[in-house]
Amino acid sequence: MASLLAQLESLSQAAARDIAAASDEKALEELRVRFLGKKGELSAVLRGMGALAAEERPKVGEVANRVRDQVESLLDGARERLAGARLEAELAGPPIDVTLAGRRPLPRGHRHPLTRAAEEIAAIFARLGYEVASGPEIELDWYNFEALNIPADHPARDMQDTFYVEEAALGGAHRSGSVLLRTHTSPVQIRAMKRLGKPPVRIICPGRVYRSDYDQTHSPMFHQVEGLCVDEHITFADLKGTLAAFARAYFGPGTRTRFRPSYFPFVEPGAEVDVSCSICGGSGRKDGKRCGTCKETGWLEVLGSGMVHPRVLENGGIDPSRYTGFAFGMGVERMAMLKYGIDDLRLFFENDLRFLRQF
Ligand code: DAH
Repeated sequence: MASLLAQLESLSQAAARDIAAASDEKALEELRVRFLGKKGELSAVLRGMGALAAEERPKVGEVANRVRDQVESLLDGARERLAGARLEAELAGPPIDVTLAGRRPLPRGHRHPLTRAAEEIAAIFARLGYEVASGPEIELDWYNFEALNIPADHPARDMQDTFYVEEAALGGAHRSGSVLLRTHTSPVQIRAMKRLGKPPVRIICPGRVYRSDYDQTHSPMFHQVEGLCVDEHITFADLKGTLAAFARAYFGPGTRTRFRPSYFPFVEPGAEVDVSCSICGGSGRKDGKRCGTCKETGWLEVLGSGMVHPRVLENGGIDPSRYTGFAFGMGVERMAMLKYGIDDLRLFFENDLRFLRQF
């Protein structure tokens, strides 16, 4: 026992001496390992306790604990001392002139054209009082289809279009076929109505959507922006005025809009919205030639819209006898292609810098 206590005493003195002399944090770490580490000196002493008589162990254990605490606090103190000294040295050293120009300026990057288009669209609606909302990309069938009044036999539900999440991946939490990658941003309409509880609801939701499709104008992952406005006395005139104002803000002040009747299960009535061609100004001709962007029609189809179906309001927890609303949805890739005159959607996803640098 006496020899173990003597070892502890000399360990304690060596630690105090060496820690006081340590000149940097790396040296302190080495000392910590040497004295307190798993294979360090203190551990070696503790291993020697096995040979002691049972009544001697508590005494040695108590001293060992005290030595460990002491070494730890010496290490803490030394760390603080070194950090303080480093700060002092920095302050005393030559000042850094933050106003000097950098010697090798890094080339500045910029946002992807799709990010830019989505942000621009959302910003226009933000100026009209819309709040940016979001929802999950892995969505329940109920939000993506059912609550939006899309019947079970609707072609959009086909395996060919919709990516379903396999039952095995769901850990038994859901039936297979009930979880999918959202095919549009419209489910956010229901989520937003339920979240806000009661009108007014004015949300805009940019986000990723998924469909099993791939060609010059389709990608399995693409982006949409959804909009929803619900309140008392909302009419089709509000829908027209809002989307016409949006088209002028996004495509330019002279842009005209036209509404064509169309069918979407979650609106009634529904309309597709065209804008005058942003490339040829609506004339159908560009530089004496046929305008390829609008195929000489002078019009571009840009979004779907309509008055929110009463059943959809109900599914969002809103009383359709008191409130009305309008909704709209547009493809971000298409909005960017039309604005910048890009003819192949796949360019957005190839990440070729020669393409991206043009924006
Ligand atoms: N969700 C539709 C689609 O992906 C687009 C759409 C049409 C959204 C009409 C709407 C709407 O909100 O009112 O094709």
